[in-house]
Amino acid sequence: MVAMRKKLIAGNWKMNKTPSQAVVLAQELARTVKGNESAQIVVCPPYTALVSVRDVLKGSTIELGAQDLHWDDQGAFTGKISADMLLDAGCTHVIIGHSEQRTYFHESDATVNSKMKKALSTGLIPIVCVGETLEERDGNRAFDVVKKQTEGAFAGITDPGPTVIAYEPVWAIGTGRNATPEQAQEMHAFIRKLVGTIHSPSIAASMRILYGGSMKPDNAKGLMNQGDIDGGLIGGAALKADSFYGIVQAAL
Ligand code: PGA
Repeated sequence: MVAMRKKLIAGNWKMNKTPSQAVVLAQELARTVKGNESAQIVVCPPYTALVSVRDVLKGSTIELGAQDLHWDDQGAFTGKISADMLLDAGCTHVIIGHSEQRTYFHESDATVNSKMKKALSTGLIPIVCVGETLEERDGNRAFDVVKKQTEGAFAGITDPGPTVIAYEPVWAIGTGRNATPEQAQEMHAFIRKLVGTIHSPSIAASMRILYGGSMKPDNAKGLMNQGDIDGGLIGGAALKADSFYGIVQAAL
């Protein structure tokens, strides 16, 4: 069976860009990618820029994502954001379980799972992140860690719909040290097989699995030429239109 998985390039702007800076970047991106239909493109600005970026992207094929959400509908959760708020702001996607959330803000497999369920039940497409630390890789625990995170994310979910997984080895994020295409492919194939066990082989064959961690225009092609790497979740290189577009072009 040959699975047709359109490449997806998602930009994770993290805590960068004020609303006015975000508008400028979104305008540049919309101009640059105009007419590009080959890869699906999503940008994930900070919450304060979502609405203005949505307005800039009207009429563009670039879609909008958020960097997190809360699993409750509303209420006394100071500092948090709900699925309805994101949907109303124009989001189609939401990043869940990013390693920075896991490391600095106590994100657990259980909270990732609650967020997954909320996103799926409201129609937001999760981009759920998994990945091991350097210590875990060096200790030969990378596959165990990714298995636990993946199983945790999907626990109790019967239909993952259009969920996207991002494999982001923590040691490669923002370090300039990307996984080799072979290292990444090995883990992507492992994750796809695991999704086949958790869900079904056909769901596994159609699920996009992105690589994230120092993906740049000059290494993107080598990574995305691998059979199980269906695009990228891009941090640093997503903050400039030309480098982000360089990666989009590598996906063609
Ligand atoms: P990076 O970040 O491309 O800057 O390594 C990727 C990510 O954290 O999503």
